[in-house]
Amino acid sequence: MAGQARNLKPELSFAEEVRSGLTKAGQKELPSKYLYDDVGSALFEAITHLPEYGLTRAEQRLLQRHRDEIRQAAGCPAVVTELGSGDGRKARTILESLRVCGRLTYYPIDVSAAALIRCNRELLGLGALTVVGLEGPFLEGLARAAAEREPGRPMLVLFLGSTIGNFDRPAAVRFLKSIRGLLAPGDALLLGTDLQKPAERLLAAYDDPAGVTAAFNLNLLARINRELGGDFDLRQFAHEARFCEAEQRIEMHLRSRRLQTVTVREARITVTLREGETIWTEACHKFSLRELPELAAKTNFHPEEIWVDEDWPFALNLWLAK
Ligand SMILES: C[S@@+](CC[C@H](N)C(=O)[O-])C[C@H]1O[C@@H](n2cnc3c(N)ncnc32)[C@H](O)[C@@H]1O
Repeated sequence: MAGQARNLKPELSFAEEVRSGLTKAGQKELPSKYLYDDVGSALFEAITHLPEYGLTRAEQRLLQRHRDEIRQAAGCPAVVTELGSGDGRKARTILESLRVCGRLTYYPIDVSAAALIRCNRELLGLGALTVVGLEGPFLEGLARAAAEREPGRPMLVLFLGSTIGNFDRPAAVRFLKSIRGLLAPGDALLLGTDLQKPAERLLAAYDDPAGVTAAFNLNLLARINRELGGDFDLRQFAHEARFCEAEQRIEMHLRSRRLQTVTVREARITVTLREGETIWTEACHKFSLRELPELAAKTNFHPEEIWVDEDWPFALNLWLAK
């Protein structure tokens, strides 16, 4: 059963965040969550099919291979909540395996309305399942799902796709602690984390020759034009993927091809970009196998299981709330 997504209000508006990111002293930036409007979500889905982007296939292999172990370790949950569900393909693998546990409620949380619609469609036909889409930010959604859950049976939280890598390391610790704060002891977190690998492999994944990732990144400027009355000339910006060795992360930037001035009406700003200056739009941190159990311990989880894909080094972590 699937209903219309419920809308949760974010703390800051899109216009306010664009204003603060583009008027920052030093590196200009835009929050990566705004990459995912209807067009961006469709482009992200296309990225997951690219030969260079092995991440999604690696995680899907691990979910397929270990879904029954996941069910057992998570204690046959009655509620599954997913942070950033996207199109729901990965959730389907888990939800199919959980059907033996009885009636299930699934809360997909996503800022993208289009992703939630696709997610609903993906899950049609799975019996004994109630889908409650929550359109809005991760923690607001999780708080809502936690408040509505029936006491007594554990909840499983899915946080897949290495979306945790979008946070820098200190922010990831804070975020995981916030998740933990909304869970009860014994609840489970299934966390997908992309592992460190050679820079060339990562750069090819985030700057594919067909230009799909470039379109995904540039669409953020197109979205600002559409929704906030911006006048970005997209042809005057280039997609750039960089590898930062010290932080073990890929950074996505939009590089200004020339000196230019841009106005965003709804954000009440006019900004100047120098030739070569960039707007930082996304960070994707890569993890070492050593740091993952430490991360669990720091955030009050017990690292119960870790499964690793060898073809595209990727780790699926099953943690239990202490
Ligand atoms: C990298 S994609 C991963 C999608 C899917 N989980 C997967 O593994 O393929 C991140 C997803 O999280 C959503 N998202 C990003 N930031 C968000 C936020 N702050 N709150 C809620 N959803 C967010 C995006 O719309 C997108 O669907």
